[in-house]
Amino acid sequence: MNFQAILDDIVATVKPQLGAQGQVASYIPALARVSPQQFGIALRTCDGLEAASGDFATPFSIQSMSKLFSLTMAMQHLGDALWQRIGREPSGNPFNSLVQLENEHGKPRNPFINAGAIAVADRLLSHGDGVGQLLELLSALCNEPVHLDPEVAQSEAETGFRNHALANFMKSFGKLDNPVAAVLDLYFHQCAIRMSCQQMARAAGYLCRDGRHPYRPGVAVVSASQARRVNALMLTCGTYDAAGEFAYRIGLPCKSGVGGGIVAVVPDQLTLCVWSPALDASGNSLLGMQALELFAARTGLSIF
Ligand code: DON
Repeated sequence: MNFQAILDDIVATVKPQLGAQGQVASYIPALARVSPQQFGIALRTCDGLEAASGDFATPFSIQSMSKLFSLTMAMQHLGDALWQRIGREPSGNPFNSLVQLENEHGKPRNPFINAGAIAVADRLLSHGDGVGQLLELLSALCNEPVHLDPEVAQSEAETGFRNHALANFMKSFGKLDNPVAAVLDLYFHQCAIRMSCQQMARAAGYLCRDGRHPYRPGVAVVSASQARRVNALMLTCGTYDAAGEFAYRIGLPCKSGVGGGIVAVVPDQLTLCVWSPALDASGNSLLGMQALELFAARTGLSIF
């Protein structure tokens, strides 16, 4: 398959629509300034073949895509013990919703909604890991140094009222072991990590390789069954209350972020990342979703 031609064609198709629909995340002031006139796409196959088009080298705020890698770290360290604090069911609610937490005694539905990722951050802190370890993992996975934007982290800390509410609520149920301020500090910093589409397509590569490191053959990032389970969680929970729509239209495990990135996995074949900052009502990149739909239709690559 000529992936380069397919990606170039997707860029040509979506480019005329740039800026026409959707809105950049405005509830995080530092993200509200990002131009919606950007679109990038990149992929890397299990054999290490790469293709990329558009603004594929521009770093963007990975936001909730970081939850994929914090979950990976927590699975590495804790194995099944992680699931004592966090569920594995889709929430059917927006990513920052509070409603289920009270009835469910402070146990978040899954690790990808904000409450779940905050609970994962608490587990990582108890294990002695912080954002430094996450940056090390990401840098090794994409074979290049990865950094974060302290201004975005600060912006989120100042305006993340819902995240403060979620963390305090979980703490009131005894479901966070560390101080709320420390847990949120890790969560806000992980969301402020910046990567390009190309780096993200490379970094997620272990998810299409049964857990094997994309640049260090012989090193397992997670076990094959853990990689399969991360993919299952991405499919059912990775795009929040739009997970059903993503499965219907694209049919691939995906993880989105309000920076406008979406990473998708074609098991045993490739990982793909799209980025365009304007979002739909569920907080997923509007043109990113469209591009993934075009990719699945043109290549026939889907898990179904
Ligand atoms: O906590 C927040 O609201 C953001 N830092 C991350 C949310 C996010 O990326 C949701 N994804 N689509």
